[in-house]
Amino acid sequence: MKKFILLILLCSCFSCKTEIRQSASTTVSPTRGLIAENAMVVSAREEASMIGLEIMKEGGNAFDAMMATEMALAVTFPFAGSLGGGGFMVYRKADGETGALDYREKAPLAATKNMYLDGSGNVDTKKSRFGALAVGVPGNIAGSFEAHARFGSLPVEQVLQPVIDLAKKGFVVSAKQEQSFNAYRRQMLEINNDTILFARVHRAGDTIRNLALAKTLERIVKNGRSEFYSGETAQKLVSFLQESGGIITLEDLEMYKAQWREPVTFSYKDLKIISMSPPSSGGIALAQIMKMIEPYPLQDYGHNSSKYIQVLTEAERRAYADRSQYLGDPDFVEIPTFQLTSVEYLHNRMDNFNFEKATPSSELNPGSIPGFESNETTHYSIVDSYGNAIAVTTTLNGAYGSKLYAEELGFFLNNEMDDFSAKPGVPNMFGLIGGEANAIAPQKRMLSSMTPTLVERDDHFWMSLGSPGGSTIITSVLQTILNVYEFDMTMQQAVDAPRFHHQWLPDEVLFEPAAFETSILNNLKSKGYHINEGQSRILGKVDAILRLENGSLEGGADHRGDDTAAGF
Ligand code: DON
Repeated sequence: MKKFILLILLCSCFSCKTEIRQSASTTVSPTRGLIAENAMVVSAREEASMIGLEIMKEGGNAFDAMMATEMALAVTFPFAGSLGGGGFMVYRKADGETGALDYREKAPLAATKNMYLDGSGNVDTKKSRFGALAVGVPGNIAGSFEAHARFGSLPVEQVLQPVIDLAKKGFVVSAKQEQSFNAYRRQMLEINNDTILFARVHRAGDTIRNLALAKTLERIVKNGRSEFYSGETAQKLVSFLQESGGIITLEDLEMYKAQWREPVTFSYKDLKIISMSPPSSGGIALAQIMKMIEPYPLQDYGHNSSKYIQVLTEAERRAYADRSQYLGDPDFVEIPTFQLTSVEYLHNRMDNFNFEKATPSSELNPGSIPGFESNETTHYSIVDSYGNAIAVTTTLNGAYGSKLYAEELGFFLNNEMDDFSAKPGVPNMFGLIGGEANAIAPQKRMLSSMTPTLVERDDHFWMSLGSPGGSTIITSVLQTILNVYEFDMTMQQAVDAPRFHHQWLPDEVLFEPAAFETSILNNLKSKGYHINEGQSRILGKVDAILRLENGSLEGGADHRGDDTAAGF
């Protein structure tokens, strides 16, 4: 059901005219999400969307709103938002200029290729996933400041004041958050050897104030970016990490820089897609999949029909196989982007597919490219009233990252080191395998699947989207674009529609539970597809904005979380 409410008072600073759509609590899709004429933010939390919007109402642009939204997520969504994480931003300015910012975490200087192998040569996943050794050098503050310095228009004090106020005033725990805190309390207590703010019992409706984070943010406002990378906060962070058994030094923090990158840009029919380049695999994998499926008449097959699932699955299988072999940090490995995304290579890749039988992953290797021998996340989309659009995905990797919480600073630290390939062929927490291209090395960035994406249609901004979900991010973004483009869904319907996923290995198609027809699943089984409907795992949590034909914006806030669109 479509439910719009007029916001009377979320926080005294918000205008009465702002409309928000309350997060849907059922799986029933409204026909349209929130519609707004000028500007919009869609993020994992209502307060974060509202603060980003407020900054734009004060005259700020999407890049000012990025800093505000990002930091407000650090306050209200500690599951994935944090000063201790990293991410990627893709932008398209009003004049059509596009670009991408990489503020992914880096391996510390003292990291070594085999640092997670035990005496028998097996990967010790406890070390790569939990506690201080799992932490990569955080990039979120560098990223927010870099984007703001280049494109922002309001002073940092003005952008961050509402966030500091929110951290002091507190945010209200949602029912989903209560469940999540309960689910991870034991691990938080174990890793921190003590109780921490988020390991206390917080029930839905309680208010959590994070005064430590407010103080950290106040110091950042006063001293700028260097507060986090060389100032008092840096020193406190390094002492804390070292006391907790970590290897990150002040030098690591001082050396950290966000990096501007060329985004991956490609066409799909009459769309132009602009997505994240390495060290994320998102853009290249999305380009490969979309180019492989482009020749097939998807509309004729029908949404989520057997044939549709087969074509996407087979293209995904082939793209994820290539990912495992060729993709890594472009500052360390040469990536054959041109060859991997060329139409000729990709159409050849689908040559051995037919509708009678699944291609077993065991019989499918990464493609051969001459000259190239083997060698918890959150997304938000913002569009401002000036015509700029951004897509931003940031992460701590696992839920609450490494679970290590810097109580004095008020944030969790990531466990991004697990995104490296700790040992060739051994899966990471998302079941992804990799090799030399994604091996650990000092200062290297670990390969990501994050896929912040912008889409142009007829040379105009059309859609901004992205998702959390580890390896399922790429396929969630893919299906959301197709849902609108091929199947005429509204943005909200496209985000809410049931999803499926394949990633080469393990050789199984993941389906959202109880969302697909049994006859279709049986048909796929009969062709040799391994169906996994049992894992009650959500596949992505997409937040998106669509420009409608009349120029207004439609938000798609995923019903799978507390995600909310705010616009004016
Ligand atoms: O960069 C990546 O691909 C992963 N660290 C993302 C993790 C993630 O999406 C977890 N969220 N549910």
